[in-house]
Amino acid sequence: MKYSQAEALLRCKIGLDPYSIGSDAIARAFEMRMADCQISDIDTYLRNIQQSPQEWEALIDRVIIPETWFFRERESFKFLQQYVISEWLPKNRNSVLRILSVPCATGEEPYSIAIALREAGLTPTNFHIDAIDISKKCLLAAQTGIYNQYSFRGNPLSFQERYFQATPKGYCLSEQVRHHINFRLGNLAEYDFLAGTPPYHIIFCRNLLIYFDSATKERTMKILDRLLSPDGLLFVGHGEAGLLLNSHFATVPYPLAFAYRKATLTQPTTKPREHKTAHKNSHSTHSQQRKIDKKVPPQPKPRTQPVAVNIKTHQPPSDTNLLDTAKALADEGRLPEAIELCNHYLSKNRVSVEAYVLLGQVQQAMGKLEDSLQSFQKAIYLQPTHQEALTHLALLRENQGDMVNANLLWQRIQRLQNI
Ligand SMILES: C[S@@+](CC[C@H](N)C(=O)[O-])C[C@H]1O[C@@H](n2cnc3c(N)ncnc32)[C@H](O)[C@@H]1O
Repeated sequence: MKYSQAEALLRCKIGLDPYSIGSDAIARAFEMRMADCQISDIDTYLRNIQQSPQEWEALIDRVIIPETWFFRERESFKFLQQYVISEWLPKNRNSVLRILSVPCATGEEPYSIAIALREAGLTPTNFHIDAIDISKKCLLAAQTGIYNQYSFRGNPLSFQERYFQATPKGYCLSEQVRHHINFRLGNLAEYDFLAGTPPYHIIFCRNLLIYFDSATKERTMKILDRLLSPDGLLFVGHGEAGLLLNSHFATVPYPLAFAYRKATLTQPTTKPREHKTAHKNSHSTHSQQRKIDKKVPPQPKPRTQPVAVNIKTHQPPSDTNLLDTAKALADEGRLPEAIELCNHYLSKNRVSVEAYVLLGQVQQAMGKLEDSLQSFQKAIYLQPTHQEALTHLALLRENQGDMVNANLLWQRIQRLQNI
């Protein structure tokens, strides 16, 4: 630990756990800023930061990791759409759905939320999104709404054609989506974060808690509890799902959505997805909507609360509920453990289509796209009419740019739906 004072400052001001990014990375960030300011000793630099908000901002931009992309962890957005269609809209035709995206980084997350909501049938007057980040530079980038190809990764990219225009500067997001978002500067590590703000129905707080120290994590969970309405939904990143175990939040049984409700609530009433859009005022054209419906994989069976099993220390579960445990681990974001259990199950049940589909989903969530392709292919080999596996495979082929095989798969799915 080269700059213990510097690390203590970051811990105190932004809740950063130095172990999350490593002391070397922190030292490098400070040294780069010191070089830019032509200051050679750390004490002088630390005094300089106290007096210069601009230098503080520049340091923050050296330390943070603004990694993000559109529709990151896609299942979260699919579940959001399902919630809006089957739960929110029927009860709240004339209300405004309030959403918070923190941290929003360069805007891909809140814009993905806006696109998902429009496609689920909400009109611009039906929802309001506050998007907050500690980095002014990120927020300025977000407000331009111009992105390079790096922001479009590993997803079905049909939304790119519908909402972005290719320009010499990059992909320019359509004005009709941009004006939905209210970008603001804010620090989630502060005690009074958004104090006095009315609660939100939906909060996305993904891929920040992993960088916080334990005291800040604990405080943040209380802040999120305060900011979420009693029947609201909280989305976290897959690496953060474990943090919500034994908390005030209970997982929603939708695989890989990493969605939570306040635990005091009874079980969610969201019904399995209907492959239809719900709202008359939808801005999507019929053909667009058909395209979306076509790409929504069939909904896995809802399950009850996850079984929290540490496979390293507990007795292994019996063979019959091994797969349920693997699903529960996947829901909690414990993806390597879920894979281990799937493989163990498959070693005893070599023809389990369900296990291959789950394995493929988890591998996909981990970015192991080649492995997930093979798992879905095995599922289809065992059951050629398995629509969920076919849909996943079609989407993966599309992502690889293999439109010929993707289209063949879509046609196959369409024929199955017409039977
Ligand atoms: C990895 S990005 C996550 C973006 C997005 N939520 C996602 O999952 O793709 C992390 C972001 O957290 C922001 N950040 C770091 N510390 C913060 C804090 N204390 N309060 C608010 N934002 C913070 C950084 O500026 C960075 O843009």
